[in-house]
Amino acid sequence: MKGLVLAGGSGSRLRPITHTSAKQLVPVANRPVLFYGLESIAQAGITEVGIVVGDTAAEIKQAVGDGSRFGLDVTYIQQERPLGLAHGVLVAREFLGDDDFAMYLGDNFIVDGIKPFVDEFRRNRADAQILLTRVLDPGAFGVAELDLAGEVVGLEEKPEFPKSDLALVGVYFFTPVIHEAVRQLRPSARGELEITEAIQWLIDSGRSIRSSEITGYWKDTGNVADMLEVNRQVLEGIEPAIEGVVDESSEIIGRVVVGKGTVVENCRIIGPAVVGSDCHVRDAYIGPFTSVADGCRIVGSEIEFSIVLEGSSLENVGRVQSSLIGRRAKVTSSRSVPNSNRLVLGDHSSVQIQV
Ligand code: TTP
Repeated sequence: MKGLVLAGGSGSRLRPITHTSAKQLVPVANRPVLFYGLESIAQAGITEVGIVVGDTAAEIKQAVGDGSRFGLDVTYIQQERPLGLAHGVLVAREFLGDDDFAMYLGDNFIVDGIKPFVDEFRRNRADAQILLTRVLDPGAFGVAELDLAGEVVGLEEKPEFPKSDLALVGVYFFTPVIHEAVRQLRPSARGELEITEAIQWLIDSGRSIRSSEITGYWKDTGNVADMLEVNRQVLEGIEPAIEGVVDESSEIIGRVVVGKGTVVENCRIIGPAVVGSDCHVRDAYIGPFTSVADGCRIVGSEIEFSIVLEGSSLENVGRVQSSLIGRRAKVTSSRSVPNSNRLVLGDHSSVQIQV
């Protein structure tokens, strides 16, 4: 059995971060979200993995390499444009050959991994197997309709009137019959080849589609709120480790990681939180559920429930929360008159200013 990881896409919901980098590489507790997925594939005993890449191919290749670090043998598959999840299967045809495969969306996060589902698929080998989870807002997802016996009888992408509260999770298991299904597809109203339509085609052709319900924690990290939530979830389980230098006037409470080469002076850090290596944190408060990547400077500021990417700085800016701050961003204060805010923001940035 092979693995197919989709790590292309346009990432429009995570702009402006995705103008310059891949959304699958946004860190959760200072590790790219994609790495958690690759690890869970390896844990499930799958070693041959194809990664579908788009515009951010170079960055993904640099981060993942040949996959040996995860115990995987990785092949990259270029997708010219993000033409849909089923298009990802289409372009991977040669790599997949006639093997069964697990398809994993590279921005999805499943806390307990996928091993039980891979085992279940291997045991029963339906024509396809999907994972479902109950959600409060099914209209935002692909939604499955099951009959009384629990068989999947229909799938709809982001329906206006959902027939159930069972949303599709971004992990699918397929036998080679899926290739016939994706070949039949035409672009949907949003111009994509939809995997839900391919599975629907299998259902209509009388194929067996099994589903299993995921009860553990799952999230699609496609937007900022979900990204922060996954970060919170992962930080809950971190092991504390102080490798940097923390001075005597600082207070560290709870599970906190401070990386090598980082200097913490006169601060209060309340975990769970991670501060990467080579950071400078002075006269600052770092609150729960915060991940600060390597090479950052947090001075005279307070931050909590946030993710700060590499090389960024916050200096004398008061309190920042529920924020995602990109790489090498600078947030500073000014005492100039008139009392105004000066902003240099990337396209599609969103900022909330206290008035
Ligand atoms: P999505 O989050 O559904 O799509 P997207 O990346 O285009 O994001 P947005 O909706 O914010 O514009 O994609 C799920 C995963 O699949 C993600 O890792 C990107 C990947 N993907 C591809 O590799 N190729 C594609 O054609 C699409 C649509 C997604």
